[in-house]
Amino acid sequence: MPANQALIQYLKTRRSVGIGFLKDPGPTPEELREILTIGTRVPDHGKVVPWRLVVIEGDARRTAGERLAELVRRRNLAIDEASLENERKQFLPAPVTIGVLVAPRPHPKSPELEQILSAGNVCFNLSHAAFAFGYAASWTNRWYGFDPEGQQLLGARGGERFVGFVHIGTPSMVPEDRERPNLEDVVTWWGDTSRPDATG
Ligand SMILES: Cc1cc2nc3c(=O)[nH]c(=O)nc-3n(C[C@H](O)[C@H](O)[C@H](O)COP(=O)(O)O)c2cc1C
Repeated sequence: MPANQALIQYLKTRRSVGIGFLKDPGPTPEELREILTIGTRVPDHGKVVPWRLVVIEGDARRTAGERLAELVRRRNLAIDEASLENERKQFLPAPVTIGVLVAPRPHPKSPELEQILSAGNVCFNLSHAAFAFGYAASWTNRWYGFDPEGQQLLGARGGERFVGFVHIGTPSMVPEDRERPNLEDVVTWWGDTSRPDATG
């Protein structure tokens, strides 16, 4: 297969765009289906399919935010209106958010960690797919992704937990690059004694 320069360039420059900068238009229904298809085409040792996706779009974004605000208010009756409004806007203005759930199950070949990693790959592949269709995306996991009631409210069933939420939309800004780790700090060559940083 020849080198794909466009793909290399994308992978070298890709940046997440925060949910506040993801605006309309979002993917069409056909594009969203393609994004979901690409998103679920990930390595999955033992073909366990330990993950499941929840799409939050249209009016459901506001309803989900309202429900989170109600949950927060029930727990803290003294909470201020600004904080409640922040909860109501958890899935706004991004046109669509895809929650990714994982429920690892015992498998002779695929330990729990591998199943969780597979779910993480779904998140990142959804993001790549969104960019491929000309949109931008970011992967977050906020309090409701860890909170049992928050998770249930957003669609988690028994044994499932969220590994992330991928927000997708048209970017209203171009983010600057952020600092990346030096390869020398994170890569070693095992057993190569000619290198001062060799391991093994
Ligand atoms: C599992 C996971 C959860 C994240 N949760 C959040 C979050 O809740 N809020 C946030 O601002 N960023 C969160 N981030 C980081 C964003 O994705 C961030 O925008 C990203 O690291 C930027 O790097 P990039 O431009 O190379 O994608 C999370 C990242 C990961 C991998």
